[in-house]
Amino acid sequence: MAEKETAPRIRAMKASGKRIVCITAYDALFGRIADEAGVDVVLVGDSLGNTILGYDNTIPVSLEEMVHHTKAVRAGVHRALLVSDLPFGSYQASPEDAVRSAVALAKAGAEAVKLEGDYSEAARAIIRAGIPVMGHVGMTPQSVNRFGGHRVQGKGEGSGAVAETACALDEAGVFATVLELIPSGLAKQLTSKLSNPTIGIGAGADCDGQIQVIFDVLGMSSDVFRHAKAYVDGANALRQGIERYSHEVREGSFPDRSHSF
Ligand code: KIV
Repeated sequence: MAEKETAPRIRAMKASGKRIVCITAYDALFGRIADEAGVDVVLVGDSLGNTILGYDNTIPVSLEEMVHHTKAVRAGVHRALLVSDLPFGSYQASPEDAVRSAVALAKAGAEAVKLEGDYSEAARAIIRAGIPVMGHVGMTPQSVNRFGGHRVQGKGEGSGAVAETACALDEAGVFATVLELIPSGLAKQLTSKLSNPTIGIGAGADCDGQIQVIFDVLGMSSDVFRHAKAYVDGANALRQGIERYSHEVREGSFPDRSHSF
């Protein structure tokens, strides 16, 4: 069996040049499938607000919901590093809040936490408490209202602010940083500047690794995003399976003797 992934091992992958594969999961079933597929990092993303809870964005996601889903994913993930998102409102007010929230996720099974934006003091406090932190800069969805939508960040003069935040998090000691929806050129510059590995989503091919939302990769999302790629037509395969089952129940061919006792 492949070795257990840890935050220090993921950080060390930058120097070895081995690309880091990350994907989200929100329950034990998909966590197990991702783990068995050999990804390096499984993220319990607060994107679960959009993908499975039916919210418009990630803002309503609570710490209790993140704890609940982290416990579920924990049950399915054994080898990959398990990272959980600190949800909106659980770390912004103070580093003390941030530590309390990170501890709740760690007790639910997270081996590291991710926070969005310029919260290097919070990151420092969480790391001091013994929990590794992943940063997240660029289009940070918890700030969607400030950005006025899910838009590419760091264009032109905006590149300075993104770079400053990424550098502050690097100094605070994060083990990896997600770069979301930023120009590829800026992502390339940050990848060579930062001591921790960059994990891109809509940030081009020059990052140290990539992250995707699992339902985008599996072709199960209703939206099609430029930054994503579906590797299977999951939604149609599942729909067809359920249609065939419905048909066989209605015509009386399921169950047959082989499914009966
Ligand atoms: O919540 C999430 O799924 C994320 C990743 C896509 C980076 O933050």
